[in-house]
Amino acid sequence: MRKALVAGNWKMNGSKEQAEALVKELIEGFSSGSCSLGKQADVAICPPAVYLDRVSGLVAGSDIKLGAQNCSEYCSGAYTGELSAEMLVDLACQYVILGHSERRALFSETDQQVAKKFETAKASGLVPVLCVGETLDERESGKTLDVVSAQINAVIDHLGQSAFDRAVIAYEPVWAIGTGKTASPEQAQEVHKEIRSQVAASNQVVAEKLQILYGGSMNAKNAQSLMAMADIDGGLVGGASLKAEDFLTICQAASR
Ligand code: PGA
Repeated sequence: MRKALVAGNWKMNGSKEQAEALVKELIEGFSSGSCSLGKQADVAICPPAVYLDRVSGLVAGSDIKLGAQNCSEYCSGAYTGELSAEMLVDLACQYVILGHSERRALFSETDQQVAKKFETAKASGLVPVLCVGETLDERESGKTLDVVSAQINAVIDHLGQSAFDRAVIAYEPVWAIGTGKTASPEQAQEVHKEIRSQVAASNQVVAEKLQILYGGSMNAKNAQSLMAMADIDGGLVGGASLKAEDFLTICQAASR
C-alpha cells in the first residue's frame, strides 16, 4: 500500500500575513483532530519562495512538510534571481515542484532543463515532484500519452533507470489547471496507470513505490473520487490549497 501525498501549490498568491494565517489554520486543523492524517498520508505546502523561511518556522514539529515551487538546475554561482536546491534544503524544504506547466509554458522550461533541475534537486536530498501533462489540443488530437511519456523519458534518459526512486510524479492535464474542469477519475486513472507502466518498464520496484499525484482543479468535492482510483496516490492542489477548510478536507480524503 502506497502512502498518499497531498501537496498544496500556492503559486504566486498571498502576502506574508495571509501565509501565516493559512499555516496557522492548517496546523490548528490537524492538531484539533478535525483532520487526522494517520499513517496513510503526508501533507506538504509549497508557499512562494520569499515566505519559505517564515513558514518553515511555523510548520516545524507539525505534520505539515515544506516544499518549494521551483529551483535552479545549477548548484551555486552567478545566476541572478535563482534559488538553489541546497538553499531550499537549508530552509528545511523536503519537496520541490519541477516542470510545472506554467513554468514550461510561461518561462520556456524545456524537458532537458527540467531533467537537470530534477538531478540537482535529488542530489541535494529534495524529493522532486515532476509535473507532466497535456494541453487540450494534444488531448483532442490523441497525443496525451505521447506527451506525458516524452516528459517522463527526458528524466529517465538523463538519470537512468532509478530516476524516480525517492521522487514523485504529478499528472496535471494543462486544460484542468485553474479552470474548474477536472479530469474524470477514469480519465486520470488511465494516464496514471500508463505512467506507472512506463516507469515499471525501467524499474518495477521503483514504479510500485512511486506516488503519482493528480493535479488540475482538485477540490474538496472531487478529491475523494479521484483518490479512490488504484493509481492515484494523492493530489497537487492549486486554488483549493489556499482555503484551509478545503485543503483539510482534501487531506482527510487522502488519509482514508
Ligand atoms: P489548480 O492548480 O488546483 O488550481 O487547478 C493545480 C496546479 O497547478 O498545481
